[in-house]
Amino acid sequence: MLKVAVLVSGRGSNLQALIDVCAQEDFPAEIVAVISNIPDVFALERAAEAGIATGVVNHRDYADREVFETALQEAIAGSGAELVCLAGFMRILTAGFVNRWRDRLVNIHPSLLPSFKGLHVHDQALAAGVRVSGCTVHFVVPEMDAGPIIVQEAVPVLPDDDADALASRILEAEHRCYPEALRLIAEGRTEVVGERVILK
Ligand code: GRF
Repeated sequence: MLKVAVLVSGRGSNLQALIDVCAQEDFPAEIVAVISNIPDVFALERAAEAGIATGVVNHRDYADREVFETALQEAIAGSGAELVCLAGFMRILTAGFVNRWRDRLVNIHPSLLPSFKGLHVHDQALAAGVRVSGCTVHFVVPEMDAGPIIVQEAVPVLPDDDADALASRILEAEHRCYPEALRLIAEGRTEVVGERVILK
């Protein structure tokens, strides 16, 4: 069983998808900790409901990013996690942290990377007039919203879409892709070769 820590900052619907897939019989991963940088978010309730240990490492309690990350690292290490999944975690991580977790740190982003990095992703997609968008699960590298791609799913952009409509259609795809990516990793089927993930 691959031990996983999930880092969250908000509602935690992707966390829920991971909780649900880990509850399936014979699934090769288990969530050992859910850690939020913001107190009282719904994601923490979801974790508690599932009987998963929770923690809060509030970035506001630390003088700078590195001290915050030291506390985060301690919380993760204390859980015994071997893999860290970012699921709506809204803090930028330094290269020091990212490199320490190299090939063991995963993120989900609601676009088909390398298109539409950063914030207001769906507005970017609508402004660009793309006919498809989607989501990407990828290993994290120091550059934001980049890194070897594990799973993607394309989603149509419909003529009447606003950002909310597109976001909710993509979110459904996210809830398929993140569990699939976790399974691939936990089964040892992902190998990072240079900038790419080779699936075995
Ligand atoms: C998702 O759209 C994810 O792709 C992005 O932040 C959102 C988090 O949603 N990184 P949730 O907290 O998992 O519901």
